[in-house]
Amino acid sequence: MTGPVLAVDQGTSGTKALVVCPERGVIGSGSAPVRPRHLPAGRVEVSPDELLGSVVDAGRLALAQAGEPVVAVGLANQGETVLAWDPDTGEPLTDALVWQDRRAESLCTELDVYAEELRQLTGLPLDPYFAAPKMMWIRRHLTRRGVVTTSDAWLVHRLTGAFVTDAATAGRTQLLDLDSVTWSPRALDLFGLAGERLPRVVDATEPVGTTTAFGPELPLTGLLVDQQAALLAQDITEPGGAKCTYGTGAFLLAPTGSVPRRGGSGLVSCVAWRLAGQSSYCLDGQVYTAASAVRWLTDLGVIAGPEDLDPVGSAVPDTGGVTFVPALAGLAAPWWRGDIRGSLTGLGLDTGPGHLVRALCEGIAAQVAQLTDAVAADLGEPVRTLRVDGGLTRSALLMQTQADLLQLPVEVSELPDATALGAAAVARLGLDPSLSLGDVVPARRPAAVYEPRIGADEAAHRLGAFRTEVAALLDRKP
Ligand code: G3P
Repeated sequence: MTGPVLAVDQGTSGTKALVVCPERGVIGSGSAPVRPRHLPAGRVEVSPDELLGSVVDAGRLALAQAGEPVVAVGLANQGETVLAWDPDTGEPLTDALVWQDRRAESLCTELDVYAEELRQLTGLPLDPYFAAPKMMWIRRHLTRRGVVTTSDAWLVHRLTGAFVTDAATAGRTQLLDLDSVTWSPRALDLFGLAGERLPRVVDATEPVGTTTAFGPELPLTGLLVDQQAALLAQDITEPGGAKCTYGTGAFLLAPTGSVPRRGGSGLVSCVAWRLAGQSSYCLDGQVYTAASAVRWLTDLGVIAGPEDLDPVGSAVPDTGGVTFVPALAGLAAPWWRGDIRGSLTGLGLDTGPGHLVRALCEGIAAQVAQLTDAVAADLGEPVRTLRVDGGLTRSALLMQTQADLLQLPVEVSELPDATALGAAAVARLGLDPSLSLGDVVPARRPAAVYEPRIGADEAAHRLGAFRTEVAALLDRKP
């Protein structure tokens, strides 16, 4: 069966849905906001009903705009966000603890002695970013009732009645054995989650049931965690390539093929996707604050919004000596220091909004450069291609800065919504197993390619200034 599919990307600050036709590309789109609550002590929560409502609203809007029937649905999800819920009624028992939530920090400290064992077992460093520490916190402090899972398992249950999670999302929990791609009894035990009822781990393309949430009854035939969905849509499957999605945070993923690589550079080693029972793996590094740092500058009144980055930043030739480490929610890979706070140095009476904007762009781009260096060290070969997507790729200033600091061409996705295109791709594969990955990955027509405009010495100088500030932050007592 062929025809358009509905692809839904359930993200941190909103849900985006696209109707994607195999021949004509995107023929409908819709979006709906979600509003996570940023609370004291690093807590970030969101109402599960708001997540589900946004999925339904965005999906229906996209279908209405397309004005023609679809044959299947694909869903991408935000990965490490968790909640407890009643498996009989589907009702949430807690709010969802968002991936950014840091409350499980103390539990990670408690488990620190097992950190290396867990990293070997699951590929993930011990950090509250991942699902298991937050699941443990829910069990200790909120409720012992029902099941506790990542948000995708709940959404899929509400949509279809199935109790499943895809292998790549399961890999974001720190409860999945990285080699066997099955739940690890040892990891479950360490997190105090032994005996929990867990969703069945499925391929990204397993048809898991049908839903009437969007109107007509439709099969849900594709499930994939969001960053991996973007990797797939960017058609990066071989070592040497990488993608970075600039969303709420910035997330760099680089494939490692059919074997996981547990390097020593502080990156996450995880499942990229499982198709027809075969797992592919990738390295993954995170910058916790990208669009959320832009939002911070906006809330302070420095700029009116992301659309202001280019006009305001272009009004000055450089950062004016300002260095911004935008670690507003801590530092993730390769440092894993959630306790670090951001820093702005080199300020003077002549510092203006343009300098701050440029310093922010350099701060984000320098962290991404740090991640590509870590990928190169772990793979033993340089990253040769960086394909990028996400809303912030519409900033020419940020993209040029990225190309400059990386000393690599940066290829911008024609559509910023690569994640939804990845969800569409797996939904089509799930619907028609005779297709191959090459049949469903969208043809690439980059919106722009940014070439480095500064020399290697200048790039090294700017990265050096940023790294010096990071080193100072790392040395400072929390
Ligand atoms: O790991 C969390 C990340 O995947 C969330 O992505 O698009 O909601 O910023 P996004």
